Amino acid sequence: VNEISRDVEHLAAEVVRECLQDGRGAGAVMARHPLLQGLGDDQKAAVARLVVRTVGALPRLQVALGDRLAGPAARRARVLVRAALVESGDREVSPDLPVPSRGELQSALAAIPGERERFAATHAVPGWLGDAFRAAFGDEAAHVLAGLAEPAPRTLRANLLRVGSRDELIGRLRAEGVDAAPARFAATAVHVRGTRDVFRTTAFADGCFEQQDEASQLAVLATAPPPGGRVLDLCCGSGGKTLALAAAMRNRGAVLATDVHAGRMRELRRRLPRSGADNVRPHELADGIDGDATLAAFARRADRILIDAPCSGTGSWRRRPEARTAIDARGLGEMRATQAALLDRAAGWLAGSARIVYATCSLLPDENERQVEALLERRGDLEVVRLAEILGNEVALPISDPAGAFLSLRPDRHGTDGFFAAVLRRRRSV
Ligand SMILES: C[S@@+](CC[C@H](N)C(=O)[O-])C[C@H]1O[C@@H](n2cnc3c(N)ncnc32)[C@H](O)[C@@H]1O
Repeated sequence: VNEISRDVEHLAAEVVRECLQDGRGAGAVMARHPLLQGLGDDQKAAVARLVVRTVGALPRLQVALGDRLAGPAARRARVLVRAALVESGDREVSPDLPVPSRGELQSALAAIPGERERFAATHAVPGWLGDAFRAAFGDEAAHVLAGLAEPAPRTLRANLLRVGSRDELIGRLRAEGVDAAPARFAATAVHVRGTRDVFRTTAFADGCFEQQDEASQLAVLATAPPPGGRVLDLCCGSGGKTLALAAAMRNRGAVLATDVHAGRMRELRRRLPRSGADNVRPHELADGIDGDATLAAFARRADRILIDAPCSGTGSWRRRPEARTAIDARGLGEMRATQAALLDRAAGWLAGSARIVYATCSLLPDENERQVEALLERRGDLEVVRLAEILGNEVALPISDPAGAFLSLRPDRHGTDGFFAAVLRRRRSV
């Protein structure tokens, strides 16, 4: 019996066609797709899973299918979705589409001549990224990449400005038919199983939670914003971490939330009222971070400067499968230059016992440890604050690198997005 109905396959192909044609991300296309609006929760979730699986497998399917992907985008999308189903054993071949059997798809990959190219295609990454993963993780690279190809859990953050505790949120969700359970590492994180649409609950309408991966919640924990203090969220985007910071500060003190992207800042402003946070001041950086007087004045007196930096997004492929091919080696180089510039600027603002928290949703050392090492070479007056010093050994060690210095999360180990965070301060002796 096929669990995946023809309707689901058809709808997934429609979404994939739009992703291919417009170059938009799967999540963005699905959020407003008219064909998905009237669907029940089960069907909507099944379509979303199949779309994410197909888009995530794209670099592999393109190699395995070759000429079979010729023709208009609508047909290409149907072939790709069917191939994703055949590949995972959810559908047998049928004569209506030119998709080979599961065994033939596997043989096509096994027949790729170069070991490097075979590894990259098998794990659905461009060759240069396959190299980068192998350089970073050695024998474990395939395991890390397999973790990134798993479906992401649905994770919520209990908003303690609106509910008394995580358990209270879980109780409210269960009473509304949502299968909710505490997550492993972050005390605010809740996993949701099943397909019930959590955004149609009164708990959501009442602002009791936000959807947020556990890794991002742990980054806020590592930031340890002092309630009553001043926190700069330099790359706030649409405010996922901003809202978590505001709640961690129990609505006291002040968060200045800045970004160069006007659309994302609008989204943050839209989210604020439901969250109950009233210690957040959104401030758009219309001309970038240089020469913005409001930013500089706040930053010089901030207790924490969170840089949730623009990055390759290699840690978040489970949710944003299109990120696998959105960046090339040159784009990564530009990204690294931006990251270094943001770090240098923040280091210039740092005063007293203030801290920089540098975070990425990347698994690539070039964007993570190497950036921190390079900053420390440029700035001898800075030092790393070990995660264990901030959170204590018991909390820190399971979520940090082997040396216990950085927040270091892997989907295959922690079940979270891939994530990195380093905390820095000025050396006390200088
Ligand atoms: C990883 S995203 C931030 C996600 C966000 N903090 C959250 O938790 O939802 C990185 C953000 O950096 C912003 N950005 C890129 N270059 C920047 C710059 N020079 N100054 C400030 N923000 C920048 C991007 O617009 C993007 O929103």
